[in-house]
Amino acid sequence: MGRSDARPRNPSNQGHGYHLPVMADEIAELMVVDPDGRYLDATLGGGGHAGRILEKLSPKGGLIGLDRDMEAVERNKLAFENEPRMRVERAEFSRLAEFCPPGSLSGALFDLGVSSRQLDAKERGFSFVPGTALDMRMGSEGPAASDLISGWDEWELASILRRNSDIDEAKRLARTILEAVEAGEEMTSDLIRKAVDKLPGMRDENRNSMLARVFQAIRMEVNDEMGQVQTGMRAAVAALKTGGRLCVLSYHSVEDRKVKETLAEFEKDCICAPNLPVCMCGGNNRSIRKVLRKPGLPSDAERERNPRARSAKLRVVEKI
Ligand SMILES: C[S@@+](CC[C@H](N)C(=O)[O-])C[C@H]1O[C@@H](n2cnc3c(N)ncnc32)[C@H](O)[C@@H]1O
Repeated sequence: MGRSDARPRNPSNQGHGYHLPVMADEIAELMVVDPDGRYLDATLGGGGHAGRILEKLSPKGGLIGLDRDMEAVERNKLAFENEPRMRVERAEFSRLAEFCPPGSLSGALFDLGVSSRQLDAKERGFSFVPGTALDMRMGSEGPAASDLISGWDEWELASILRRNSDIDEAKRLARTILEAVEAGEEMTSDLIRKAVDKLPGMRDENRNSMLARVFQAIRMEVNDEMGQVQTGMRAAVAALKTGGRLCVLSYHSVEDRKVKETLAEFEKDCICAPNLPVCMCGGNNRSIRKVLRKPGLPSDAERERNPRARSAKLRVVEKI
């Protein structure tokens, strides 16, 4: 990344219309500890956070941005074409070690889940508006939701609904969905909608929230989201230099639980097997400390302005 004062085409408004970045000022403030450092935006999306981070960097600083979605990558390549401090790559963040050697980063950001653009683009199959084909892939690789659903048995689908979205009625819902698949119903959002409608006691005011949770559970499986979070965050901790910061934004409880569990691996002093009577590891294995003792939450004004921000939780840690 070369020296330059060049600014992105649309610096801090980058992303508007495509995706409104959540807690962008707070994140740039907490993450950019060294304006000359090298940073990672693991989830570029509309490039809103990236623009804000670049504003904080000196001409010597650098930012590498990843996304698994080709549309997001092309958008960012174009938006930052005159920004020599920025490098944009299409990759899953589980592969970030290929771009960020150990101890090279002053900061890394993971803004998890899907962008507003992905949700809004009907052809991507993330939304439950009527007649949407069940695709849900963030990248173009791997099987679409419809292919996976037809291969799952009732037990697998029920455990996915339970594991990814804490759905109590998972077993009944899985059976109804798979009965419709076997009956040859078209693999669209309507199939899921009808299955949700058949749940006993389903009321109009609960329908959309249940549909969102079913879609979320299937989407997480299609994209191996929890596997990606675990591998990506472990790689990010390895890529941070001492004093470097990792910021992670999650949007629902299952996602946040995985973030917390993965961070906890690096917060342990002792990593001996629990059945060892005495510590053999030296007891000084902790490699991160919390920067925010409790997860950061968006301001009331931001929650008002951006409904997507309402469920956001920001965790920030520092490599020690
Ligand atoms: C919430 S949006 C990020 C929005 C972004 N921070 C902004 O300011 O516009 C999440 C983005 O991460 C991408 N993504 C999700 N999981 C990914 C993964 N495992 N590897 C790379 N990109 C991923 C999605 O394709 C999506 O574009």
